[in-house]
Amino acid sequence: MKNLLVTGGCGFIGSNFIRFLLPRADFTGRIVNLDNLTYAGNAENLTDMAQEYPDRYVFERGDVCDPLVLADIFSRHDIDAVCHFAAESHVDRSITGPDAFIQTNIVGTFQLLEQARRLDDRLIRFHHVSTDEVYGSLGAAGHFTEQTPYRPNSPYSASKASSDHLVRAYAKTYGLPVTLSNCSNNYGPFQFPEKLIPLMVLNALEQKPLPVYGDGKNVRDWLYVVDHCRAIWEILVKGREGETYNIGGDCEMENIDVVKSICDIVDKLRPEDGQPSRRDLITFVVDRPGHDRRYAIDSSKIRDELGWTPAENFASGMAKTVGWYLDHGDWIDRVRSGEYRRWIETQYGSPG
Ligand code: NAD
Ligand code: DAU
Repeated sequence: MKNLLVTGGCGFIGSNFIRFLLPRADFTGRIVNLDNLTYAGNAENLTDMAQEYPDRYVFERGDVCDPLVLADIFSRHDIDAVCHFAAESHVDRSITGPDAFIQTNIVGTFQLLEQARRLDDRLIRFHHVSTDEVYGSLGAAGHFTEQTPYRPNSPYSASKASSDHLVRAYAKTYGLPVTLSNCSNNYGPFQFPEKLIPLMVLNALEQKPLPVYGDGKNVRDWLYVVDHCRAIWEILVKGREGETYNIGGDCEMENIDVVKSICDIVDKLRPEDGQPSRRDLITFVVDRPGHDRRYAIDSSKIRDELGWTPAENFASGMAKTVGWYLDHGDWIDRVRSGEYRRWIETQYGSPG
């Protein structure tokens, strides 16, 4: 891979992936990061990478839904591989406003596939980053395998399912050298503070209520983001063409236990005299519509075939994550303020 196009590289997982990949000895190519900087995209996440690797990292602001932007980027940068992260990613937003999810997740993936198809033999690999939510919800027992039928329940997961089907179809119909991965819930540095873990960390720090949906007993499988990035890299390099790999942390937890553990870590790291435990801030609120009850991943395929295994467990990953948020108050203030949007417009202009 000489010129790897990473889409959505300014988001949570994409920026961690670029930070993970550039210093590696087994990757000597260039990364072209295409991102249109939605509310979830933050170009500043990679300022240090741009300085450290000026010849190997390029940022391009643009929309994956725009075929002219894609044609220009593919030809100007001589793209020979793609790792596709760009998406609208937050389930709650997909419930209140599904349009952007249909556009970016379905139409954007389609436009990218069309462009990749034009490369013919020059395309080495198209990796599509997807989610375990495409499989729907589990009962008390069982795990999602790569053979589990798709049953998406939210506009977000339906749009991701649709994009997965397009990627598979382009492999079968046009022979595109694709791989797919379906991963469980990630956590770690640079996650936008709307998702459960960073939201709870920040609210706990600020002594605000901690809103737990429904009875708090929905189960998610948690994976530290750098472990996900390493899995994607293993698939890009060693994964078999046309295959899907499930990725998970073997770390099933009820939401209420995740929130309690965050309270305890924040109490320990930031004790406040005279204040009761942060657990007292937990507030049960109305449930998310269509809320999936339980996800659990069988990741034996990637473990057995590619030798991947997570390096972090929940305790070690959470200690790093909470520590990162405590140390990066400036980042939090910037992404939550209008100041960052104004900075984007001075750097890149308003989106067309
Ligand atoms: P994110 O919301 O943090 O980042 C998405 C990035 O895509 C942002 O930088 C945004 O600006 C960019 N983007 C959005 N629309 C775009 C468009 N039209 N053109 C160009 N760029 C655009 O998301 P994330 O959590 O980093 O997720 C990345 C990918 O991983 C997504 O495809 C998501 O479905 C998948 N995934 C996420 C998780 C998770 O737990 N976060 C788990 C499994 C899979
Ligand atoms: O499973 C992978 C998916 O994980 C990814 O594909 C998505 O992009 C990612 O956002 C995530 O989806 P979830 O809906 O599972 O993540 P979220 O952080 O929004 O919520 C995690 C759980 O916590 C879920 O059961 C809803 C609950 N929740 C969430 C929030 C934001 C609460 O109880 N309170 C909250 O305030």
